[in-house]
Amino acid sequence: MKMTATIKDAREMIEGWKRQGLSIGFVPTMGFLHAGHRSLIEKARTENDRVVISIFVNPTQFGPNEDFAKYPRDMGHDLEICRLAGADLVFAPEVSEMYPSKNLAYVDIQGLGDGLCGAKRPNHFRGVCTIVTKLFHIITPDRAYFGEKDAQQLAIIKRMAQDLSFNIEIMPCPIVREPDGLAMSSRNTYLSSEERAAARSLSRSLALAHRLLLQGEKDAVAIRQVIVEEISREPLAQIDYVDVVDACTLNNVEQIQGSVLVALAVYFGKTRLIDNLFFK
Ligand code: PAJ
Repeated sequence: MKMTATIKDAREMIEGWKRQGLSIGFVPTMGFLHAGHRSLIEKARTENDRVVISIFVNPTQFGPNEDFAKYPRDMGHDLEICRLAGADLVFAPEVSEMYPSKNLAYVDIQGLGDGLCGAKRPNHFRGVCTIVTKLFHIITPDRAYFGEKDAQQLAIIKRMAQDLSFNIEIMPCPIVREPDGLAMSSRNTYLSSEERAAARSLSRSLALAHRLLLQGEKDAVAIRQVIVEEISREPLAQIDYVDVVDACTLNNVEQIQGSVLVALAVYFGKTRLIDNLFFK
């Protein structure tokens, strides 16, 4: 496994593979890798000749009061996970490599980024679209792997790739959870043991919603209510949003028909966790 921090080296290596006609799978990450990231890398490994991982905590997707500076980092551990999962190249640039001067050109999307996490994190998805576009231009993969854990991000990247004619297949990957149901996240490391215990309420509430949906409940208010009630039992939980949206448009729905995404964001202290359920 090779590692580089420069765009030039990454391009040279990838151009060499392309000349040999090898296919390239790409997993963009912000590091502090866990089993969720690893599942993406392993899927990429089975579907491509070469697998590239990027590790880059992207400043343009963090708001001024968010956790960019304290976002967890552990390059040694990350490289070990990449190696074990079968990566060929890790691209881990510094901020100065990706943004050598004040960034003036951005990639943004209309509509899909307005609700859910976008409502509370202005410019977040602009930062995500911009860095993913830059990484796509550098790595030029055949396939890129994204987790359903970040369902809004996945919908936005799919649409961006379609609207901007990226010749890259966007591959969705299922949410990987801890044994007690908590969706794996690099941010789980911020939780105190009490907060960690309370955070189980997220997947528990989604399981209750799932049961209702399976029973044929069509009223989005009722689905939302069961989730809010379950999470509100935890005094340490502070709900940011719980929404039932159309899985394609991400617009709120009142009556459930077709595929829906039940998505939530909840604070435990200063830590904001997200989780979701896709139902069709
Ligand atoms: P990051 O949060 O590091 O996540 C990298 C990828 O791993 C994303 O596609 C995310 O959805 C996926 N992932 C995270 N936790 C997961 C889990 N429990 N199960 C399955 N997949 C999971 O998402 C980002 O980084 C950034 O926004 C990025 C796309 C790299 C742009 O900076």
